[in-house]
This record gives sequence, C-alpha cells and structure tokens, in this order.
Amino acid sequence: MSHSHVSLFFAMSATAHTAHSAPSTMAWTASLQTGDARMDETHQEFVDMINQILATPEDQQLPLYKAFLNHTVEHFAQEERWMLATGFSADNCHAEHHATILETMRVVEAHYLDSDKTIITRMAEALAEWFPGHANSMDAGLAAHLKSVGFDSVTETLADPSVIQNVTMSGCGSVSCSS
Ligand SMILES: [Fe+2]
Ligand SMILES: [Fe+2]
Repeated sequence: MSHSHVSLFFAMSATAHTAHSAPSTMAWTASLQTGDARMDETHQEFVDMINQILATPEDQQLPLYKAFLNHTVEHFAQEERWMLATGFSADNCHAEHHATILETMRVVEAHYLDSDKTIITRMAEALAEWFPGHANSMDAGLAAHLKSVGFDSVTETLADPSVIQNVTMSGCGSVSCSS
C-alpha cells in the first residue's frame, strides 16, 4: 500500500482523532498548478469544497459531502476521458488511484450514515493531505502529456489526431505509479 493510500485509510480509524482541535483548511497556491488551466479550475473547486466541508458543523456536512463526492466523480472522469483521448489504456495506474479514492469516499458516506459523525471531517482532512502529492505527480504528468500531444482540454480535441496513433500508455506517463 502506498503512502497516499495509508493516509486515506488512516482517516477511517475512529480512534485517530480523539484529541481533535479546529479543522485546518487548505489553501489554493501556485504550487498546486498543473500546467493545464481547465484541470486547475476543477482542482480549485475541489479545494473550495474541502474547505467548505471543514468549515461546517459535523451534523450538517452530509449534503456538502454528497455534492463533493459527485464533483470528484466528474473531476476524475474528466481526467480519465482526456487520458483515453490521448493514448492511455483504460486500466492505467492514475485511473486506478482515482478508483481507490472514490471507493473510500463512498465507504465514508456509509459510515457517517451509520452514526460516525466525525468521519467526513477526517476524510476531508485526509484528502487535503493527499491532494498536493497527486496534483504534483499524476495530474501534472497528465497535463504535460496533454500538452506534448497537442490536446486542448477546453474543446477536448487533438490538433492532429494522427500523433497519438502510436502512443500507448499503460503507466502514468513520466510519473512513477508508486507516487
Ligand atoms: Fe485531478
Ligand atoms: Fe488525477
């Protein structure tokens, strides 16, 4: 299990935050930029939604969390659509990481409904910790790949579709799958 997964599963432990103080928020900074403006726009929404959840009393977080989960489904689907359009295989490791995160997020909703009312806060904090590493490695790697093949993420088109005919990527581009 990689480090990024460890912090997510740590969020699942009900004993992890017994001495919980005021939840920290996440700042949007230039270091989170990936080089793709459309991707960064979605990421900024992701950060805003985490902060909104952390600023909300735990007994009122469920509607925000559901909206955040739906947003994250779309966020990841968008990146995966771009991967498929530019030569990645469907089972590449970046997409696998996304699937693991979504699976954990769905389990968190179930635990919250099953009376663990601090778990959404713990999950939001774990995602705030996980996100910069993912943005700087897999997402930035994808953004660099999109640029290198001439893919426009706003129109979702390739300047020259023939450039990806011989591109088959099963990994994460220039980025290691262990990150
Ligand atoms: Fe992303
Ligand atoms: Fe991603």
